[in-house]
Amino acid sequence: MRFRRFELDPTKRRLSRVANVEDLRAAARRRLPRGVFDYIDGAAEDEITLAANSDAYRRIRFRPRVLRDVREVDPATTLLGRPVSLPLVIAPTGFTRIAHSAGELALARVAARAGVPYTLSTLSTRSIEEVAAACPGSKWFQVYVWRDRGLVREMVERAASAGYEALVLTVDTPVLGNRQRDVRNGLTLPPKLDLWTILDGVLHPGWTWDFVRAEPIRFANVVGRSVGDGADAVSLSDYINTQFDPGLSWRDVEWFLSIWKGPLVLKGVQTVEDAKLAAQAGVAAVALSNHGGRQLDSAPAPLDLVPAVADAVGDRLEIICDGGVRRGSDVVKAVALGARACMAGRAFLYGLGAAGELGVDHVCRFLATGMRRTMALIGCRAVGDLSRDYVEGWSRADAVDEGDIQPDEPPPEPLRA
Ligand code: FNR
Repeated sequence: MRFRRFELDPTKRRLSRVANVEDLRAAARRRLPRGVFDYIDGAAEDEITLAANSDAYRRIRFRPRVLRDVREVDPATTLLGRPVSLPLVIAPTGFTRIAHSAGELALARVAARAGVPYTLSTLSTRSIEEVAAACPGSKWFQVYVWRDRGLVREMVERAASAGYEALVLTVDTPVLGNRQRDVRNGLTLPPKLDLWTILDGVLHPGWTWDFVRAEPIRFANVVGRSVGDGADAVSLSDYINTQFDPGLSWRDVEWFLSIWKGPLVLKGVQTVEDAKLAAQAGVAAVALSNHGGRQLDSAPAPLDLVPAVADAVGDRLEIICDGGVRRGSDVVKAVALGARACMAGRAFLYGLGAAGELGVDHVCRFLATGMRRTMALIGCRAVGDLSRDYVEGWSRADAVDEGDIQPDEPPPEPLRA
């Protein structure tokens, strides 16, 4: 009998017994202070949608085909006209360095190594330029729309000159969702020191040591601007509800199409009707998304929308299914139902929170090997061959109206700089 060698590196020790994303979530829960873990893990109100996003994947079953010679299985495909090694995109997440000081740079580096796009959030804690310098791979930039359109235009131009390939306009956040865990924890960004946060920090020394040694975290894209860069602790709801423009409309989508020359992705589409409007507007892709359940509770699970949206507009734009992805088999299901790719947020943040860049690498590996294994087990060698023949247990969510859809009356004056 041989004894296993004791691993001296605590991060590697933590990762040696991790088998999936859920294990990384448990590891992140142990390493992060409660308020920080809840900011990542939590969602709006009763978290019905949060649960529904993942449950939707569990309801889909495979129809595996056998004796298909699966020695060569290839999960590579193209997305927005460019090759990707998996049909996967790392979702934009704000304030990422709260999970680990490696933050956005770690996510961007892992994405580049894995051959998938990384989406940088407007509310990132590393700037557009810092991430571009660290990430030789494919990068997308997500925009939230400040009331100050001059600032928005400037950011879009910065993203274009830094080589970001796609612009992702998030349209599900006219106001911030009611995230009750953050309310109970009194969460501010960055966390404010009080007796409770100090105690929480002492109980989570790994995170605390990393956090206090690293340079202070800010909304790096707007440092020094009058909109506030998060140097002073702010509650996310106060910040978003005062800075972001709830007047956003389809006219603004036109405006973005006129100032951004690359592909535009609308993130947060949640009905067939709006997917049709997006196709009429001429966007390159929609990300079916409810913001990981963090905005409107009881919003539909994105996976449930995929078949109907694919049937309605799948020939006019690409469909990205965002929310609830925890396994490679989830990505296979979404693609089989008609999505071009999936986006995932928390899966990567659990890896980051548990073990920094190494943890994010683990997530990519789980999703990639999970996809390959699933494709082999269902007898499908190529992403292009995935179809509804391989899945059962789905139905087509219905649109309220058939035929052409008109946007609501836009506001009388377009709100722009
Ligand atoms: C997010 N999400 C998000 N979306 C966005 O467009 N801009 C942002 O800044 C953020 N910030 C953010 C922070 C955190 C901590 C989370 C968990 C999520 C939503 C994100 O892009 C994506 O839609 C969801 O994370 C998808 O659900 P899963 O994969 O987390 O289940």
